[in-house]
Amino acid sequence: GVTPKIAPSMLSSDFANLASEAKRMLDFGADWLHMDIMDGHFVPNLTIGAPVIESLRKHTKAYLDCHLMVANPIDYVEPMGKAGASGFTFHVEISKDNWQELIQRIKSKGMRPGVALKPGTPIEEVYPLVDSENPVEMVLVMTVEPGFGGQKFMPEMMDKVRVLRKKYPSLDIEVDGGLGPSTIDMAASAGANCIVAGSSVFGAPEPAAVISLMRKSVLE
Ligand code: DX5
Ligand code: ZN
Repeated sequence: GVTPKIAPSMLSSDFANLASEAKRMLDFGADWLHMDIMDGHFVPNLTIGAPVIESLRKHTKAYLDCHLMVANPIDYVEPMGKAGASGFTFHVEISKDNWQELIQRIKSKGMRPGVALKPGTPIEEVYPLVDSENPVEMVLVMTVEPGFGGQKFMPEMMDKVRVLRKKYPSLDIEVDGGLGPSTIDMAASAGANCIVAGSSVFGAPEPAAVISLMRKSVLE
């Protein structure tokens, strides 16, 4: 069965204090830490890469759920593996030809492969990667255009989640963008079990309350 994973997006944290921000989120009950890797090409924003993952790894044993918004994910596999990434989720839009090799290499570096899709990408595009003999283990349905935190949740993306959940009852399905107390029920009832939340968690007076509320919504 699928278990709830609440993954605060560290994009909304204070990057100058990443280790203590990570510890704070884990103390507040986070299951995973969501790490947004952006290269300034696939998305119009530049964030962190393997060196920062490597630094953070020295401070925590937590599952680092890495979301690669990069034009050449294959180039990141070895450095991210060495750095101590746990999950490696690449975008289907730029992996049309080499996804089999990509999944193979991610697994060989001891990471868990996932595939993400942008709001404009039809859900059918990920089916071959989930049905493959060497499949991805998570699908990340973007609920905003990738690139920035603090955007508005796109409820129309829940059709993708519903279709995916029906087809794959035990798959990890992650949603990312605009999740918080006012949108979690839509995502949970559609069938998402891995919940990324940046601004709603970091911006809350009591992040622990937001995390536990979201976990309860997924369980119900
Ligand atoms: C957007 C990132 C998200 C972002 C979510 O490209 O993939 O992980 O941090 O932030 P919120 O929860 O504020 O929408
Ligand atoms: Zn993300």
